[in-house]
This record gives sequence, C-alpha cells and structure tokens, in this order.
Amino acid sequence: MGYVRGEMKTMSHKKTRFLAGILVYTSFSLSAAAQTSRPAEQAFKNIKVLTGVPESQIQPTMWFFSAALGVRCRFCHEDENDKREMDTKPQKAVARKMIEMTMAINKNSFGGRTVVTCNSCHRGNAKPVGSPAIGIDTSLATRAEAVGKPIAADPMPTLDQLIGKYETASGGAATARQISSLAMKGTVVDTNFNGERKTMPVDIVAKGPAFTMVTAHDHDGDSISTINGSSGWIVTENRPARDMRPTEFEAAKLEDPNYVTGRVKQVFTELRFQSRLEKIDGRDAYIVSGRSPGSTAVRLYFDKESGMLMRLVYDTETVFGPYYTRIDYADYRNSDGLQVPYHWKISRVRGEVSEYQVSELKLNVPVNEASFAKPSAPPAAK
Ligand code: HEC
Ligand code: HEC
Repeated sequence: MGYVRGEMKTMSHKKTRFLAGILVYTSFSLSAAAQTSRPAEQAFKNIKVLTGVPESQIQPTMWFFSAALGVRCRFCHEDENDKREMDTKPQKAVARKMIEMTMAINKNSFGGRTVVTCNSCHRGNAKPVGSPAIGIDTSLATRAEAVGKPIAADPMPTLDQLIGKYETASGGAATARQISSLAMKGTVVDTNFNGERKTMPVDIVAKGPAFTMVTAHDHDGDSISTINGSSGWIVTENRPARDMRPTEFEAAKLEDPNYVTGRVKQVFTELRFQSRLEKIDGRDAYIVSGRSPGSTAVRLYFDKESGMLMRLVYDTETVFGPYYTRIDYADYRNSDGLQVPYHWKISRVRGEVSEYQVSELKLNVPVNEASFAKPSAPPAAK
C-alpha cells in the first residue's frame, strides 16, 4: 500500500498536494521489466539529453531532480501532466545543461561511475550555496539512511540465525500461512512536500499475500489501491480505475506490511547479512540486504533484541543513482499468535510521509476474491 503521487497523474496542482488518500506510489525501480523497456526518446516526446535511458527511469529521475533541488515539477515544467515535453521554462533549459555537465564530470573525472549527482551541489536548494557553512541541515543527505558503523564488540549472528529468530519472534511462517484473510480499520496521516498534514480513515482488506485492497476515505472521494494477483489497479478521488504500472505494483507490494512482515524468506531473494549494526531510535538493528521478486534492491533492519523487522528500505533507480523509500514498522501486537504491526510509516524522497495506524484488526474474515477485481465504472461519489 502506498500513496498516490499526484504529480505524475493528470490532475490539478491543488489536488496533488493532498491527493485523496493513499495509495500508489508511482515509483519506478530497475526491475526486469524496466531493463527491457524502450529508450526514453522513443517513449517520450522531447528527450534531448537523456537519450538511451530506459523509459522507466525517466520519472524516477524527475523525482530525483525535484528532491535534489527542493522544487516541484512545475519549477521546470508546465503544471499539466500532458505538457511536460514543452520547453517553456528557462529552468528546463538550465537543467539540460546541468545534466550534460554532471554526466561529463562523471565521465571525465570518475571513469564514468555515477559519483557526482545534482544533489552533490544542490542539496535541496535550487541555488547551491558556494561557501561552507556549519550546522546546516541539508535535505536529501539527512533523509537518506545514516551510514552504519561496524560494531566489533559482540559476535555477529549468521543470516540463518537472524532469520530464524525473526520467524520465531513474528509468530513463525507456519502461523502466517494459517491466516487466510484480514480486515483492518485505522487512519493514515499524509504529510506532503510542503509539510501540510491530513488525516483520513482507511480500510485494508487482504486475502493471502496475493490480494490486498487499501481504501482511504477523503472528502474528495475514496482512493483505492488494489493488488489483485499478478496485477493491480488504482482509483484516485473517484476517477475511473486504472491499471498499476509494473513498478507501481512492485512498490505497492513492498509498502504493504501484510505482504512483507512475517514472510521475509518467502518474499525476498539474495538475502545477505551485512554484518553490521545500525541505530534506529536508540535501538540496535542488524541489516540484511536482498532483492524483491521484481528485482528491486532492499535492505531489511532487524531489532537486535527482539528479532523483529523494524525497517524496510527499497531503492528506486534513476539516471543519477538510486533514491530510497523507507518503511518503519512499530506497535507490533499479537494476533492469534502472529505479530502484526499496527503502525507503519512510509518516508519518501522530498520529505513526504504516510503514517498508518490500525485501530481494529479482524483475522480470517470471509473475503471474496472477486471483490479485488478492477471495477469497470468509477465508484459512486460520496
Ligand atoms: C530541475 C528541472 C526539472 C524538474 C524539477 C523536473 N523535470 Fe522533468 N524534465 C526536465 C528536463 C531537462 C527534461 C528533458 C530531458 C531531456 O531533454 O533529455 C524533462 C523531461 C520530462 C518528461 C518527458 C517529457 C517528454 O515527453 O519529452 C517528463 C514526463 C517529465 N520531465 C516529468 C517530470 C515530473 C513528473 C516532474 C516532477 C516530479 C519533473 N519532470 C521535474 C527537467 C525537470
Ligand atoms: C557541480 C555543481 C552542480 C551540479 C552537479 C549540478 N548543479 Fe545545478 N546549479 C549549480 C549552480 C552553482 C547553480 C547556480 C548557477 C547560478 O547561480 O547562475 C545551478 C543552477 C541550477 C538550476 C537553475 C536554478 C534556478 O534557480 O534558476 C537548475 C534548474 C539546475 N541547476 C539543475 C541541476 C540538475 C537537474 C542537476 C543534475 C543533473 C544539477 N543542477 C547539477 C551547480 C550544480
């Protein structure tokens, strides 16, 4: 479950601030699908410098630009989604030069590796500050993960011990299989780019790991994000349902705690223990890296003491390297022997946050798979 990133959809800018609800994060990771996608210049109308880049990386790269400069899309583009190809803003022309400059720096000085990015200079500001300063909180750098310090004191567990402890602590994989369905009620608090907050009631219904529907109720209408087997669909503010892009589908799953928690071994591959500890809110966490089914790189943080999953970080690839989305799990409660997080917080690039709090959970309720099917007509307005 995630949040509809309005700026990539066709809707007015006022709405995008507080797009009703949750739902799907239009993130684009370098998945198998992405790697086979067309070059950007074939998929978009006016690509002059990002030629040869897979089409799926264009939008994440745009999010990267916005985050690095601390601006919205309209800083470089016309507001409307269908006018991004226009060259009406001088900032877009500057940005093209900057892309070429940044690529040239990496090519000429760093052997072609992506070392210098827009954020190296901009750090959340449209105009980089030339003179050094002390005590200034720079945006992307502080939001990115802190660098973990190796801790030598205790002997490190093995990966199998870590995962074993986690499975026992979370109620065990066997218990997870006994939960056929669940229904959650609660709230989601969305904080947008401008720091404005809004609280909405939310309903979550899931059947096994393959079906999840998240409905946020906003005064503008419901927003729905649904995972329906091997595909998904989205409704924002009572617009007609549309299919998720493969990468949105991937993000929606990774952001769904019902899909991830208790199922680490089933969901992720290439798990590797990083043999280091990091502090999260004063607690020591072990870090395990891995890959999702869609090949997105993830990092999992397990509480050293309790063994529980505290955090999941996943990468979104851009032309200038990845940015991160972070999900923090808290308030685990025992439900029929399974530990279920009642609170999770999704932190995104540019400081956008969605915080879910469950108030009511029912397990093994009757749920019909047909209820996850994509509706052919928009739901009636409230
Ligand atoms: C710092 C400036 C900047 C920001 C901010 C920015 N873009 Fe872009 N965008 C560009 C440039 C430059 C290009 C053209 C790249 C090229 O010529 O290869 C572009 C191209 C695009 C295209 C391709 C349009 C086409 O058909 O040719 C889309 C879509 C797009 N941007 C969407 C967005 C979205 C959505 C956002 C906000 C999340 C955003 N951009 C933020 C600079 C920016
Ligand atoms: C080596 C440092 C450096 C890097 C890397 C860099 N920039 Fe810049 N950028 C600057 C400086 C310095 C300015 C301000 C120039 C001025 O004041 O005339 C600037 C200005 C800009 C502006 C105009 C801002 C305004 O207020 O009009 C845009 C847009 C921009 N950069 C986009 C980017 C993008 C996109 C990237 C990454 C592809 C990038 N820059 C990478 C140093 C950098």
